Amino acid sequence: MNIIIADHYDDLCRISADIVKDCVKAKPDAVLGLATGSTPIGLYKQLVHQYKSGELDFSKVTTFNLDEYIGLSPEHPQSYNKFMYDHLFRHINVPEEQIHIPKGDNPQLEDECSAYENLIRRIGGIDIQILGIGANGHIGFNEPGSDPEARTRIVRLSESTIKANARFFGDQSLVPRLAISMGIQTIMEFSRHIVLLASGEEKAEAVQKMAEGIMTKNVPASILQSHPNVTVIADQHAAQQLKKQSS
Ligand code: GLP
Repeated sequence: MNIIIADHYDDLCRISADIVKDCVKAKPDAVLGLATGSTPIGLYKQLVHQYKSGELDFSKVTTFNLDEYIGLSPEHPQSYNKFMYDHLFRHINVPEEQIHIPKGDNPQLEDECSAYENLIRRIGGIDIQILGIGANGHIGFNEPGSDPEARTRIVRLSESTIKANARFFGDQSLVPRLAISMGIQTIMEFSRHIVLLASGEEKAEAVQKMAEGIMTKNVPASILQSHPNVTVIADQHAAQQLKKQSS
């Protein structure tokens, strides 16, 4: 794991945007794996800026999002579909048909999961997978205890994630209990480069366990230690519990 400690959140966004920019410049038809949550919002802002200033062209890029809530339509204000269009897709030139987000309102959920998995495989995998991290160490919606061999599937959100995400829904009771998520094995096997972003003190313990703790399914992000190409970009708050301050 290559760990970069950014001075501030803005640096974290700039550094991660530069990694994406270099990838897309070198490979205009790059496949990007994208994440939701508050952490990557600044990265997406930077990518929009790079597109608007003519530095980046997304016309050949393909995207795959990590996860989506089950039961929300794409237009629902808290769906990850809407999040991605609001923060990124509506502002750049990636063609609609090259955007992939699991459909949480598909009545055939099992088919949705296997089709999603197959599509990533068929396209040849993901060049850069952006990840956030949950305060409990989750990646995507792979909660503590998730099988490291799991593929894209239906998952149940943990109580702590429901609580953490309630801030977006206004009330905890409104947070969906189920989601579709790429599995840990999907992420591990299909991603050529994983870029994990962590910001804020509430992520410090998870970041330390991910990078320096034992590899355990109880901290899903710790499984990333066995991936050959992971870059962690943490701001100083999120990095404060790391024993080794860089590697
Ligand atoms: C959500 C998402 C994750 C995200 C995490 C952290 O539950 N499913 O993909 O990484 O929470 O979100 P935030 O960046 O808002 O802390």
